[in-house]
This record gives sequence, C-alpha cells and structure tokens, in this order.
Amino acid sequence: MDEKQIIQTESDLMPNVYAKRPTVLVEGKGALVWDINGKEYIDCTSSYGVSLIGHSHPKVVKAIQAQAEKLISCHSSFYNDKRSELLQKLVQITPKGLDKVFLSNSGSESIECAIKLARKSMEKPEIIAVIGAYHGKTMGALSATWNKKYRYPFKPLVPEFKHVQPDNLKAIKEAITDRTAGILVEPIRGEGGIRVPPDDFLPGLREICNSRNILLILDEVQTGFGRTGKNFACEHWNVTPDIMCIAKPIAGGLPIGATIAKENVMNSLKVGEHTSTFGGSPIVCAAACAAIDLFQEENFPRRAANLGAYFKAKLEELMSKRTILKEIRGLGLMIGAETRFEVRNILSKSMERGVLILNAGRNVLRFLPPFVIEKKHINTVIKVLDIVLEEEENERQLSSPSK
Ligand SMILES: Cc1ncc(COP(=O)(O)O)c(C=O)c1O
Repeated sequence: MDEKQIIQTESDLMPNVYAKRPTVLVEGKGALVWDINGKEYIDCTSSYGVSLIGHSHPKVVKAIQAQAEKLISCHSSFYNDKRSELLQKLVQITPKGLDKVFLSNSGSESIECAIKLARKSMEKPEIIAVIGAYHGKTMGALSATWNKKYRYPFKPLVPEFKHVQPDNLKAIKEAITDRTAGILVEPIRGEGGIRVPPDDFLPGLREICNSRNILLILDEVQTGFGRTGKNFACEHWNVTPDIMCIAKPIAGGLPIGATIAKENVMNSLKVGEHTSTFGGSPIVCAAACAAIDLFQEENFPRRAANLGAYFKAKLEELMSKRTILKEIRGLGLMIGAETRFEVRNILSKSMERGVLILNAGRNVLRFLPPFVIEKKHINTVIKVLDIVLEEEENERQLSSPSK
C-alpha cells in the first residue's frame, strides 16, 4: 500500500477517535523515526512516552527475538522463568515496601487494578482524584479522569469517585469521608499540562493518608521508569505510595501495565478476583527484562536529569526571545512549554520541519523524548521551534520582548 492508501484505509476502518497526523511512520531507531517517504523526524513524543529507551533498541529486539522462538504466551496460571525474572527486577527498581506486582497490558488496566485493590483491601468504595487528572479511558480509569470531554458521553460512570482541587491538601482533607478508600494522583500531571506539585504536596498527602487510614495510589504511568530523573517521580519527594501504577515504557515498546502494591494490600485479592489473559506473557516480560537491564546499566534516570536540564534551559532561553512562550515547567525529560495560544499549528509546522512534539491540553507543548536523545537533536528541536514560533508571532503580529 502507498501512503495515500494507508491513510485512506485507517480512516475507513478505524473509528475517528485519534487526532491523526497526516504521516505514515514506518521505521524508528533511537530518538529518530522515518515516514514512508524516508523523511526523518526527531521524536519528542516517544509514542506518548512509550519508547523511552529509544525506538527498537537492539537489546530489546534481541530479547524479543530469542523469547519468540522459545515461548510467546504463557497464562499466569502457569509459572514462567521470564515472568519471575521481571517480577524480581520490578520489585528491585520500585520504592522499598512495594513487594507485590499484578501484571497487565496498559496504563488504564494498571489503574483498574489499583481501584479494585483499594476497594477490596479497605472494604470502602470511594476514591478521591484531582481536577485535571488523567488516568485513562476504561470505565474505572475514566471515572478518575477529569476532562468532561472524555467522561460525559459515557455516563453513568463508576460511582463513588470525586474530584478535588489539585495540589491542595486542605481540599483533600475536607473531601475524605468514612467511605474513602484511597486517593489517586499523578505525581506530576501529564495530560493536565505538565504540572509539578509544590514540594510539600506529596509528603503532606502521605501524612494525611497515614493519619486518616486511607491508601495513597500514585499513577506513575507517564512519570515512571526514569522519565523525570529519578526511577519513579515519587522519589523526588521521598514518598512511597501504598499502590503504584506503571506502564508505558517498561517493556521497551511492547504493551504492559503493572500495579505494584504493599504486600498486605495486594494480598486482599483472592483467586479469580482479578486476572488477565495476556498480562505477564513471556515475550513482554523478556522485553521488559532487557529494558530494565539497560535502564540500570546506562543509568537512564541520571541521563534524563542531565538532558532534561539542558533541554529546559534551552527552552527558557527561547522563551526570553519568543513572546508566545509563557512558562516552561517539568522535571527530567518530561517538559511542558505553555504558550499564549493553541499549539495545534505549532505541532503541525514543527512536524513539517522534522520535529514531533505532543500537546498537553490546548496550549501546552509537551516534550517526552527518549533517554537516547542527544544534545545535537535538542539543539535542532530548539532551532525548529524558534523558526515556527517566529512564524506564529508574525501571523499573530506579536512583538518580541526585546522590541
Ligand atoms: C498518567 C496516565 N495514566 C494512565 C494512562 C492510560 O494509559 P493507557 O493509554 O496505556 O491505557 C495514561 C496515558 O496516557 C497516563 O498518561
């Protein structure tokens, strides 16, 4: 099929639920991807945070190939060598005290498990989430997600969810009732605009959960696995949750979700109460083992911290020149640049010039590049953005701060 036929086929045969970009990607290596015409792009999306260790990392490819020849699927009602290897590695890299893992296939699934776990272990139904949160689109995860656009068409949602002001300990304290099982938050809100909480928020939340005897559930689906410069974002504030949800990059690009909990919490689930046909399949576990080995050998969190600081400084420099940029925020390689206008044009013009960027809401440019991005790539991204933002400013007749 040629480019036109591929685009037509997906348009005809898929529901119109993705804001599609008019390009057909066929190859990826490290921080670069290529379209069907051979055009190269610097990928600051990592497929929405999935390809954090880079596209088609050779060690992950090798692990997948070797496992594919041995055993691709093995239901978790049987034991498997690769699965047990992965479980050990996951428990080793996640915060101390999180000792039990439920393996699934996506971020949303990791949240579903957390919700069920909170309800079952606490014998209470209510979950508190925050305004602006994004936790996925399956019915439970959707009930915790904030955006009305995603939620309202699908009412009635799962009952006993409520949303409170984010980063606001007082509001959370007031929202807790004797029906509350847990509080679910992203350590840094991703889709909500790359919002880093004040330093006292997560430690304060931990204290509230301890004193009111409710569970702290952290959604590290986007922030986890070194993205923010620590293994998991909660480590920036020395906070350990009772349940942690991780997904996106852990298997080097293959679908995975994991809900990791304290032993007493996870032990509340009994045989048959929560299972998954594909969760923990050997081929995904093999890929994840290779990804975690790389993550440790190459100290990816440190790399994310260093490159992220470089990227952020470059964006701040650009902001002093380009009026359209309003604020730069984020940690490690999870960076947001808030703009004064919608970012849609900026995304498409950057793509035309070979740079793929995400949005977070309407007016935040979201950068989630892979660990393997190099400074030269970052410099190119900044150069392209400078040109694109200047064009936008000219179209909107904005003057630069120096004028
Ligand atoms: C913080 C967070 N939680 C949950 C999800 C849902 O993950 P998935 O799309 O894999 O179901 C996402 C996806 O973007 C996310 O960013």
